[in-house]
Amino acid sequence: MTSAPSAGDARRLAAASLAAGDPTGWFEQLYAASRSGQAEVPWDVPAPSAHLQSLDLPAGDGRRALVVGCGPGRDAEYVAALGYRVTAFDISATAIDLARERHPGTPVDYRVADLLAPPTDWRRAFDLVLESNNVQALPTAIRAAAIHTVGTFVAPGGTLIVLAAATVRTDSGGDGPPWPLTRAEIDTFAGDGLQPVSVDNVGAAGTTLPTRWRAVFTRP
Ligand SMILES: C[S@@+](CC[C@H](N)C(=O)[O-])C[C@H]1O[C@@H](n2cnc3c(N)ncnc32)[C@H](O)[C@@H]1O
Repeated sequence: MTSAPSAGDARRLAAASLAAGDPTGWFEQLYAASRSGQAEVPWDVPAPSAHLQSLDLPAGDGRRALVVGCGPGRDAEYVAALGYRVTAFDISATAIDLARERHPGTPVDYRVADLLAPPTDWRRAFDLVLESNNVQALPTAIRAAAIHTVGTFVAPGGTLIVLAAATVRTDSGGDGPPWPLTRAEIDTFAGDGLQPVSVDNVGAAGTTLPTRWRAVFTRP
């Protein structure tokens, strides 16, 4: 029987990276170590997010979608199959290599990019933006900037989907990653002119986390 990937390698590398003052350097280290069989990437599973699928999104009809922190591409491929023109990015070059290798002939435009310094022409350029499980992997010091930047990608009339581990604590401290998001943090996605459509606290079956956020925002 194959066991589920553990969070141990991620937490060890994240702790060292954070201690060195580099809050995102560990992602590339983890993907690279995984590729050479020396670590496990705990979120690297083939199936698209069940919480994304549960939203039953309408057909894309060629509208533009952006998948933030796409990893090896499980959700980007799902959104593309719905008929969206998908751009998907990750800070890890190895993750983007894996995405391209695992999905030969994909219509998804996979890019290496940093959420905290994105291309300027992505501002208000996407009809659908997916932020799934990324902010929860970032320390609090850079979360506000990350949350703000995610919102800037949404075009007028567009939709932002946020999927994240949830906590009822008022701070998001504790062992991590992940560092689950508070309700207050979820609510801050509604900055920069975005408005909430729904914010649901849903079960997190099959994980060690109590519940998750499944939130939808729009830019009127
Ligand atoms: C916990 S993983 C989630 C991956 C994917 N969204 C999923 O649910 O399968 C977080 C991802 O965000 C990426 N990431 C972290 N910081 C980033 C940044 N500043 N810009 C772009 N991607 C980032 C990591 O490399 C990693 O692939």
